Amino acid sequence: MIEFRPPRNEKEWENYYDLRYRILREPLGKERGSEKNEGDELGEHICLYDNGILKAIARLDKTDKPQVAQVRFVAVEKAQQGIGYGRMIMKAVEEISEQRGDIKMILHARDYAVDFYLKLGYKNLEKSYLLFGVLQHYLMERIYKSLS
Ligand SMILES: CC(C)(COP(=O)(O)OP(=O)(O)OC[C@H]1O[C@@H](n2cnc3c(N)ncnc32)[C@H](O)[C@@H]1OP(=O)(O)O)[C@@H](O)C(=O)NCCC(=O)NCCS
Repeated sequence: MIEFRPPRNEKEWENYYDLRYRILREPLGKERGSEKNEGDELGEHICLYDNGILKAIARLDKTDKPQVAQVRFVAVEKAQQGIGYGRMIMKAVEEISEQRGDIKMILHARDYAVDFYLKLGYKNLEKSYLLFGVLQHYLMERIYKSLS
């Protein structure tokens, strides 16, 4: 059974940040703690549990533009990548965003994840920032429906 929900106890929160650290920070040589930021207070935390086991995570943020959401910290457990969990959690996050009235999602993709988001219907808009001075990101967006 697949479930999309936030962590709901201390152990689940620990596993959530641990997955974020191992997939998104440890490979860049960063220390524990670097996986958290101030947006964690306000962001919506979404986990994909498959039969109760954490497989993928994402954080849904608001932006300074009305009805524009941003997804951050998307990560799938290493041994489980490439079998559909990434697509599933992105769909769930987009649905939550759409239900709250947003019209589009933006994100900053790591260079090696750009093709993943292209497959999900995102448009690559422009080069954005260099994370830690080395990892190029690209600003991408997906408009949920035509505004005409
Ligand atoms: C990038 C990531 C979130 C994708 O999740 P995933 O579960 O591995 O991807 P899925 O299995 O759902 O793949 C969906 C489609 O995208 C493709 N895809 C997945 N990762 C890809 C990548 N890095 N580059 C190109 N295509 C990719 C899959 O082949 C699949 O294509 P298909 O539908 O034609 O078969 C995951 O691999 C991950 O956590 N990577 C490391 C951390 C990371 O890069 N996070 C994103 C930060 S911006």
